[in-house]
Amino acid sequence: MATSEKSWQSRMSKDQDDLAAAFVESLSVDVRLAKYDIAGSIAHAQMLADCKLITRDEFRQIKQGLTDIAAEIDAGTLVFDKRFEDIHMAVEAELIDRIGEAGKKLHTGRSRNDQVALDMRLWMRDEIATLGEHLAVVQQELVRLAEKQGGVVMPTYTHLQRAQPGLSGHYLLAFVEMLQRDRERLADAAKRVNISPLGSGAVAGSTLELDRRATAATLGFADITRNSIDSTADRDFCIEFVFVCAMIAQHLSRLAEDWIIFSSQEFGFIRIDDAFCTGSSMMPQKRNPDMLELIRGRCGGVYGNLMALLTMMKGLPLTYNRDMQEDKKQVFDAADTIAACLAMAAAIVKNTTFNAERISRGLDEGFTDATALAEYLVGKGVPFRTAHQIVGRLVAQCEQANCVLAKLPLDTLQQACPQIDEHVYEHLTAVNVTARYATEGSAGEKQLKQQLAFWKEQLA
Ligand code: ARG
Repeated sequence: MATSEKSWQSRMSKDQDDLAAAFVESLSVDVRLAKYDIAGSIAHAQMLADCKLITRDEFRQIKQGLTDIAAEIDAGTLVFDKRFEDIHMAVEAELIDRIGEAGKKLHTGRSRNDQVALDMRLWMRDEIATLGEHLAVVQQELVRLAEKQGGVVMPTYTHLQRAQPGLSGHYLLAFVEMLQRDRERLADAAKRVNISPLGSGAVAGSTLELDRRATAATLGFADITRNSIDSTADRDFCIEFVFVCAMIAQHLSRLAEDWIIFSSQEFGFIRIDDAFCTGSSMMPQKRNPDMLELIRGRCGGVYGNLMALLTMMKGLPLTYNRDMQEDKKQVFDAADTIAACLAMAAAIVKNTTFNAERISRGLDEGFTDATALAEYLVGKGVPFRTAHQIVGRLVAQCEQANCVLAKLPLDTLQQACPQIDEHVYEHLTAVNVTARYATEGSAGEKQLKQQLAFWKEQLA
């Protein structure tokens, strides 16, 4: 382990207070950036050599030293002392300890301010790819379930009151749409992440002739940032990333809430496999949907991550301030939470079945065919507003008689509206209505078939 003191120590009249050292350190959090920090340093050193700011041999020593350090961190044989503050100082001190003079040249033309911005961008680029894959897996599971059990006619809800009937597959694909937008948001955020800040220095750049485009190219960035002040002050990319995490959390939370309700005794629409439920320490009969509740609950934490970041950045003077060190906790926590929730969501979707029999048993309660009846009247030339009133009265009549619309005799229906004929019954019941959906994107069979084909191709 490195024994070198902190790189800035010579300016101070005494050693850092222990309490201050423990308070300022971020190594316990940013050690997970080690791999990226080292990749950035090797690219930087290579550029320094190409620009003749260090020799080839010094570059070779730096590269070897850093490669060894990376391997040892990976193997768990190298553990840093938190006294080194952060991963940047720990790695540099370790390198100097190992290779001496050449190591002291690594930080030429660089500051931890552009270094940390670089590391976070490199880390985030990978994380965005990982989360994108997780999202795709949940989508695939939803599509698979929609293919397997998408033909169940079920009620849809507004205000948690029965609204119109529709196919279960259509319901499931609604979540696929949400997650697709999340993937697009991640891909869009990645464009702004994938720009190299390296070479911006502490704030205003360097008087050395560094080749910023060379390090950017080595590290696979699409471009370099234009303004050193902005580059070192900017954490928009972190906020944006966590915002997308918050959006994903919101979508998963809504799925969780629906499925908690759907798996209740009262609904009984779905059954989540025992392997994903928990029991009660006291009530022997219990089968609780705790995984879904945790997905719903953890959403709050991710919103918190977003608020913490937004608030942390508010009113910070340009450019870097130590406040910004706190970004990592929030960003990592949001990413880890979302990765875990997406994996859990995929497993739950895979292990859930629709209870078709139970759904169909109560399906015609709640007058979900009322809108379609009004639309039938529109087909007979009745203005929609009038049709709405007629059907409203019929529904009230049904409630009195404790029956469904399809059970009203024809003469009762014709008393309400003379344009009604015997074909009206083909427009009633949830099953008939679902078979009649005509609009693109509606909840019927034809539309579901098209959309399943679309998603299977999209996700292949
Ligand atoms: N550990 C610091 C952070 O995460 C690195 C940058 C420190 N820069 C500084 N000028 N103190 O933000």
